[in-house]
Amino acid sequence: MNVGIDKINFFVPPHYIDMVDLAHARGVDPNKFTIGIGQDQMAVSKVTQDIVTFAMHAAKPMLTKEDLAAVDMVIVGTETGIDESKASAVVLHRLLGVQPFARSFEIKEACYGATAGVQFAKNHIQANPDSKVLVVASDIARYGLASGGEPTQGAGAVALLITAEPRILAFDNDNVMLTQDIYDFWRPVGHQYPVVDGHLSNEVYINSFKQVWQESCRRHQRTAADYAAICFHIPYTKMGKKALLAGFETEDQVQQERLLTRYEESITYSRRVGNLYTGSLYLGLISLIENATTLSEGDRIGLFSYGSGAVAEFFSGRLVEGYQQQLNKKSHEALLDARQKLSIEAYEQLFEEKIDIDTNKTFTDDLLYSIHEIKDTIRYYKDGNE
Ligand code: HMG
Repeated sequence: MNVGIDKINFFVPPHYIDMVDLAHARGVDPNKFTIGIGQDQMAVSKVTQDIVTFAMHAAKPMLTKEDLAAVDMVIVGTETGIDESKASAVVLHRLLGVQPFARSFEIKEACYGATAGVQFAKNHIQANPDSKVLVVASDIARYGLASGGEPTQGAGAVALLITAEPRILAFDNDNVMLTQDIYDFWRPVGHQYPVVDGHLSNEVYINSFKQVWQESCRRHQRTAADYAAICFHIPYTKMGKKALLAGFETEDQVQQERLLTRYEESITYSRRVGNLYTGSLYLGLISLIENATTLSEGDRIGLFSYGSGAVAEFFSGRLVEGYQQQLNKKSHEALLDARQKLSIEAYEQLFEEKIDIDTNKTFTDDLLYSIHEIKDTIRYYKDGNE
């Protein structure tokens, strides 16, 4: 029995800034952001939008009544939790209308959380082939105004429906995992923004990729030639490229160039939104399969997941016959094109707005699913029926 991704969708908030504008405002050469970091635009969220609202927008449109009746597990991977105890997956379960006899929980390990969820889902489906699992990666990546990490911020969610006999990607059973206790990026309880050693994080990311890649090749007797493409966690688009070049320096030049071309196709969407944290790897996968010029059914795609702290995993899957029919390239491009560009002043103003969970307040936001009220420390969401 095959298990894998049956449906996949992403959502990003309706506002963004241009990286050239940000560079001018920060007194930086724009080429540093557009070439050195590899970002053209950056998604910006409002105070009325959180991981639940992004998760709703990513998951709701792709789920049918039959899906909602078959889903018996809802997993949210996030590092932008809205509560220290209650899982956002429980709220999502209700808002989506998933049948009640389900398990709902949240997973945290920096940007790796959603991959842990996907693997948990895979094991669950192997034991319960008739059920379906919804995994949502949802985050708001923020480092602070004028901080070193500012050009690598972003926001949004990716929803994945994991099932038996999937229609997009069937997972191989070839996962190689790696855990290393390293402080490259972390967010102590109570801190609004992460503490980050940016250059160390780049190094750990690259070394982690090399280790899991080499171990995977050793265990499964594979080389780069066995992969049609490799998707990376994309904190900023230059990062995956650096790891790819470092990891494949001993590989045949032709293979290196081929995989680099596929990598460029996998970053089309990320260049326009920035880091989604847990969702970035899966946004890269969507971008690849919707924009690749040469992929075919049966092709193997490698996936490199990385979460600071640090946990990494390399695994793969094969494109299923007819996968093209499950894609939504037009609506994804429309979502990105319809966004409104903000001035840097407007972005800075939005950035400074905070939710005070101890003050009762109502809000307005045009977004279909957004926070409309804070009452007695509880967030109440528009559920799209207003
Ligand atoms: P920085 O010090 O501002 O930038 O930090 P830099 O000086 O390293 O320059 C960046 C690149 O721009 C360099 O290219 C420069 O040469 C180039 P590289 O040598 O790396 O190839 N450059 C230029 N290029 C063209 N024209 C110019 C120019 N000037 C410079 N004029 C850094 C950059 C990414 C470290 C910072 O933004 C940061 O700390 N970001 C947050 C951390 C991060 O994203 N780390 C990535 C790996 S860790 C990870 O992926 C996990 C994460 O997602 C969190 C999680 O797991 O939850 C972050």
